[in-house]
Amino acid sequence: MSSQFISFPKDFLWGAATSSFQIEGSPLADGAVSSDWYRFTKTPGRILNGENADTACDHYHRYPEDVALMKELGLKTYRFSISWPRVMSGRKQVNAKGLDFYRRLLGELNDAGITPNVTLFHWEVPDWAEGDWENRETAHAFRDYAEAVFKALGKEAPLWSTMNEPICVAELGRLFGVFPPGRNNDRTAYGRVTHHLNLAHAMTVQTYRQMNLPGEIGWVHSLQEIVPATSEKKDLEQAQKLLELSQGVYLGVGAGRGYPDSFFDFAGKPEGYREEDLKTIAQPVDFLGVNHYFPTYARYSPGFDAFDNDRTPPPGAPLNDLDWPVVPEVLGNLLVRLWKDYGYRKLFVTENGFSTRDSLRSPDQTVHDDARVHYLGTYLEAAHKAIQAGAPLKGYYVWSFLDNFEWAYGYDPRFGIVHVDYKTQKRSFKDSAKWYKETIAKNGFDRGALPKNPSYRYKK
Ligand code: FCB
Repeated sequence: MSSQFISFPKDFLWGAATSSFQIEGSPLADGAVSSDWYRFTKTPGRILNGENADTACDHYHRYPEDVALMKELGLKTYRFSISWPRVMSGRKQVNAKGLDFYRRLLGELNDAGITPNVTLFHWEVPDWAEGDWENRETAHAFRDYAEAVFKALGKEAPLWSTMNEPICVAELGRLFGVFPPGRNNDRTAYGRVTHHLNLAHAMTVQTYRQMNLPGEIGWVHSLQEIVPATSEKKDLEQAQKLLELSQGVYLGVGAGRGYPDSFFDFAGKPEGYREEDLKTIAQPVDFLGVNHYFPTYARYSPGFDAFDNDRTPPPGAPLNDLDWPVVPEVLGNLLVRLWKDYGYRKLFVTENGFSTRDSLRSPDQTVHDDARVHYLGTYLEAAHKAIQAGAPLKGYYVWSFLDNFEWAYGYDPRFGIVHVDYKTQKRSFKDSAKWYKETIAKNGFDRGALPKNPSYRYKK
C-alpha cells in the first residue's frame, strides 16, 4: 500500500445520512398530518423554483431498494430521521401506520447488518402543535412523541439522537426568514424557540434513561469553527459572540454552564423561563453528533445580518455550489476542541458533504464528481488527524446517501453520493459513491490518489 494510505481505527463506523422530509415523499400518506414544512413548501415564493417534497426520492415506497444500495456500498451505519407528523396525528394520537413504516425500515436495516442511527426531529413540526416551538407545551408534546417511538421501536436501534441542528430552527426560521415560519429578526421568538428545543431535548434524554433502553442517546448540532476575518478587536469580539450564540447556548447549557450573557442581551429572557430549567437541560448525553460543512467568518458589520455579521469567505476560497467555503483542516481542529472543551466521550461526524449541480451526465452515464471525492477525502484526512490527537471520533456519516430536497433550495443543489433521476427515480452511483465503497472496504484511502485538480469554484 502507498505510504500515503490513511487507515482508520478498527470498528470505525462508516455511514451515510438522510432526513425524512428530504427523501421520503408522501408527506400526507397513511394518516400522516400536515406540518410547518409541508405548508412552507406550498407557500409561493418560499422554495426555489416553486418545488416541494411531495415525491422527493419516493423513499417511502422505495426503502427496500435503498437499503439494498446501502448494503452494496458496504455502509456500516445509516442515519435517518423519523417524521413527527407521520407518527403522531394528534397530541396523544399515535398513527400506527406511520410508525409501521419505520418498523419496516428498521427491519430492513437490521437484516442487512447496517446499524441504524435514528434522529427524532429533523425539523417537521406537526400543525396540531399550536404555537410551534415558541410554545413551551411543544417541548412536552415532543417528549410524549419520543416516548411513543421508544416504546414501539426503542430496542430496534442502538443509536438515537434527540434532534438535528436546533440552531437552524431557531435562527433560519425566526431571524433569517428562510425556514418556517419565515420570520425575520424576531429575537423574542428566537430566544423562546432555542430554550424550548433545549428543554425538549433534555426531557427526551431523561425519558430514554427512565425506560432503561439498551442503546445510546445523543444530540446533533451544526458546529462550525468561527474564524475572525481579521485580528481587529471588533472581529475577535464578534467571533466570541457568535461562538456563544451558536455553541454556548446549546453545548454550554447542556454542560451545566447556563446561558451566556450574550444570549439574554440578544434575545431577552425567554417568556416562561425558569432557573430550574437549567438543571433539566444539563443532561449528560452518550455522544455528540457533529454536522460540519464550512467555517463561519466573523466580521463585525452593523446591519449586515441579524447578528451584524458579514460571513463572506475570503477571495480565492474554494467553494461548493452553495458558496460554502471548503477548508478541511477546520474539521480536525473542531473535533479536538469540542472533545477538550466539553469532555464528550464519544463523537460522530453526523453530516459532512459537498453540493454540486451534477445532474448532467457524461456520455458514459456517470456523474464524475471529482470535487466531491476530493472534499470527502480531505475532510476525512482532517478527521483522522483529530483521532490521532485523541479525539474519540467513532464514526462518520457522509451527507448525503441520496440527492434530495435541500429545503429552501429545492432540488437544485445535489449532495448525494448516489445520483437520483427525479423523473424516473432511478438511482446510480456517482464516482464519489464508488470511492466511498472502496474506502469502507479498505477501512481507509490513499491520500495520494485523490483527484489532483478538483473542479471547485473559487471565491472572486
Ligand atoms: C444540514 C441539514 C441537512 C442538509 C445539509 C446540507 O444543515 O441538517 O438536512 O440540509 O445541511
